[in-house]
Amino acid sequence: NDKVTVSTLRKYKSEGKKITALTAYDFPTAKILDECGVDMILVGDSLGMAVLGYESTIPVTMDDMVHHTKAVTKAATRAFIIADMPFMSYNISKEDALKNAARLMAEGGAQSVKLEGGIEVADTVKSIVNAGIPVVGHLGLTPQSVNQLGGYKVQGKDDKKASKLRSDAKSLEDAGICALVLECIPMDLAKEITESISVPTIGIGAGPYCDGQILVLHDMMGLTQGHKPKFVKQYANIDKIIRNSVNNYISDVRNSLFPTEEYSFTSRKSDAK
Ligand code: KIV
Ligand code: NA
Repeated sequence: NDKVTVSTLRKYKSEGKKITALTAYDFPTAKILDECGVDMILVGDSLGMAVLGYESTIPVTMDDMVHHTKAVTKAATRAFIIADMPFMSYNISKEDALKNAARLMAEGGAQSVKLEGGIEVADTVKSIVNAGIPVVGHLGLTPQSVNQLGGYKVQGKDDKKASKLRSDAKSLEDAGICALVLECIPMDLAKEITESISVPTIGIGAGPYCDGQILVLHDMMGLTQGHKPKFVKQYANIDKIIRNSVNNYISDVRNSLFPTEEYSFTSRKSDAK
């Protein structure tokens, strides 16, 4: 049960051993994931939708990310922890990007940071890596650019966009990333990129040929309201479990079925008898 590091990830890729990853945003779920043996835990800015009730990842702040990263890193002893750099925390200047990446590491306790984009962020990636902070890249459907992409849809379907993604992957590899998330791209393109770079690819909606897979925990657990993308396999229906429990509790209290004596205390005097 050795701690997963950047070397572990590279080793898994070279051995063809699949890397498992999930998101987490709090202590109890991160503890479960870590004890189950998931290799990577991402404190994603999907936090905004999954637990903060936002409509996109755009309103998520550095303070939000640091707050939740702290809870996750306290729980995880084995998994490699990645913290997402939120919208505009790495786009304004390299100094800004370095300061914000440093907060996620020093205050949050993460082992790496993730940021979205290709060639346009390569210099920023390089300076964060040079500061000793492992960086995970993220290409394809990059949710922080949803307004520019015109919605949440499959990316890299035509030749021009596919070749842009290939060269973006290359420039991120050259900039020194330790892993690359590929989100919502055709599986043949994901396969090509996976075979063409030395760093592990982690797919979400990117088919079976990536070096690893990630899903948003709340999506795969059935705790997400509304639209669920095609690439999400739902492994549980936690929404239903919570509803049933809450309905039973309400009914018990209304009908004076809870608490019974079993859940109640007696006075000191009667305890002593
Ligand atoms: O924020 C997130 O959960 C992510 C994953 C979808 C890769 O970036
Ligand atoms: Na994200």
